[in-house]
Formats: sequence, structure tokens, C-alpha cells
Amino acid sequence: MTNEAESKDSAINRIFREVNDNNSPKELLATISKSDEEILRGAVALNSSTPADILEALLNDSSSYVLSCLRKRGYKTRPVFNKPKAIIGHKLLFKDATIDDAAFIVELRTNEKKSMYISKTSNDVKQQEAWLEKYSKDCEQVYFIILNKERERVGTVRLYDIQGDSFCWGSWLLIEGATSSYAIESALLVYHFALGLGFERAHFSVRRGNESVWNFHERFGALKTSETNEDYSYSISLEAIQQSLKKYSKYLPNGFSIED
Ligand SMILES: CC(C)(COP(=O)(O)OP(=O)(O)OC[C@H]1O[C@@H](n2cnc3c(N)ncnc32)[C@H](O)[C@@H]1OP(=O)(O)O)[C@@H](O)C(=O)NCCC(=O)NCCS
Repeated sequence: MTNEAESKDSAINRIFREVNDNNSPKELLATISKSDEEILRGAVALNSSTPADILEALLNDSSSYVLSCLRKRGYKTRPVFNKPKAIIGHKLLFKDATIDDAAFIVELRTNEKKSMYISKTSNDVKQQEAWLEKYSKDCEQVYFIILNKERERVGTVRLYDIQGDSFCWGSWLLIEGATSSYAIESALLVYHFALGLGFERAHFSVRRGNESVWNFHERFGALKTSETNEDYSYSISLEAIQQSLKKYSKYLPNGFSIED
């Protein structure tokens, strides 16, 4: 680490300790709530002595981390994505995709049967690695690798395109021969995760020919909103999501947990 980086780090640590002090003066908390460092703004959000007007101003913060801190304080924030380390379900576990997953993704997305109704993917693993590298710095989407309990990769799913309180999900693929409960369990985990982030609706498009998939979504309560020659577009309401989470709860007999 360079001296410059080291002194920046120690300055952040020093301010962090000050912000975590419940006796910090309001003026200091107000100043730090405008810091360039999200970790410091998050610490202001978490400090139980931070006055309400500072917390309310932080509701407009662009950082998903800061908003997640506000949610921990009971504030209702606009929904944004975060990338948890893992979401643990019953037979499945989601983990954030990394460049180590490039070869798996390429193999899955270029599989003749699986790729029929998804956008075309190059079979160049290096290109996929570059995409994943860029993805790691992108807060506008979350790309999960779906693993089974043996930690074998069995699929992918992606949440993206925030439109107010609605999120889009797709890039949903399971390996050939996947256990038949994986589709429902993975959809349940997507919705539980998204509702926990504050989303209240979802939208997505499915190719007209992808009948089993649009049937799946319709059974979950999604309603067709428009159609083109190629695609059907759907939206699913909070009420329908909640009903399906309840209806299919036997697929998550012990609930789920999220590791941040
Ligand atoms: C999308 C994808 C992950 C869905 O998985 P899937 O296993 O095909 O999902 P299915 O609709 O067959 O559902 C799996 C099982 O759950 C059952 N099921 C699905 N929805 C159900 C419901 N609402 N109630 C009860 N059972 C249900 C199905 O009948 C099926 O059971 P079976 O295996 O005994 O026939 C998978 O088809 C895939 O990888 N497709 C290729 C990529 C793709 O097109 N992705 C979508 C892009 S929009």
C-alpha cells in the first residue's frame, strides 16, 4: 500500500470511530453524512444518536450500502440492489457471480437447448470474464450463480432494470436434468430477496415460443402487459408475489437466509 493510500485509510478509520461514538456532535454527523466515503455515510445512518433530519437527507443517497443501513434503522428507502455473499434456501443457494464462473456461464448459455429463447452469448470465455469483471463494479444489477447443496453450479439468475419499485429478472437458466423443484425454489428466492430490498413489483419479458416459462410466470400470478412479434411482457404485483410465496412455501420449509 502506498503512503498516500495508507494515510487515507487511517483518516477514514479515525473518522469512522468518531461517527460511531454516540456522543458525536450533530454538526460533525451532518458534515460526515456528506462525505465521499459511503462507509462513513453508512456509519452516520447507523448511529442511534443521528438526528432524524440527517437520516431523512440520507434517504436520497445514491449508495445502496447507505440505504441498507437506513433500512436497518427501520426507514423505508427506495429499493436498490445489493450483492449479498449468499442466499441460502432449502436445496439451493445463490452466490454472487464472479469471473471464476465464466466457463460455467458460457457452457450453459451456449447449450443448444437452453439458449433457444435467450439472447445470444459468445462462446469466448475471456469475453465472459471481461463481462463479469465489469459486472463486479456494477450496482445496477445482481447476477447470481445457483448452486445445489453440494455446491455444484446448477444455474444462473439475474435481477436488473430498476423502475421505481419494480425490478426485472431474467438470465434464468438451469442445467439440463436439474431437479424439478429448482425452478420454483429459485423463483421464490428471487422474490424473497427482492421484497427484502423494498421492491413491490417485478417485470420481465419472455419469448412467445418459450411457453413453459411464460406458463410458469402466469402460474406465479404475472399478468401480460404487452406483446410484440417476439416477446410477451409481464408484470407481477406485490399481492401476487406474496400469494405465491405463501402458496409455494413448502419449497422453502425452513425459510431462507441472506449472508451479507
Ligand atoms: C427457465 C428455467 C430455469 C425454468 O426451469 P424448468 O425446470 O424448465 O421449469 P418448469 O416450468 O419445467 O418447472 C419445473 C417443475 O416445476 C413444476 N412447476 C412449475 N411451476 C409450477 C407451479 N406453479 N405449481 C406446481 N408445479 C410447478 C413443473 O411442472 C415442473 O415439474 P416437472 O419437472 O415434474 O415437469 C429452465 O426452463 C431453463 O433453463 N430454460 C432455458 C433458458 C430460458 O429460456 N430462460 C428463461 C428466459 S426468460
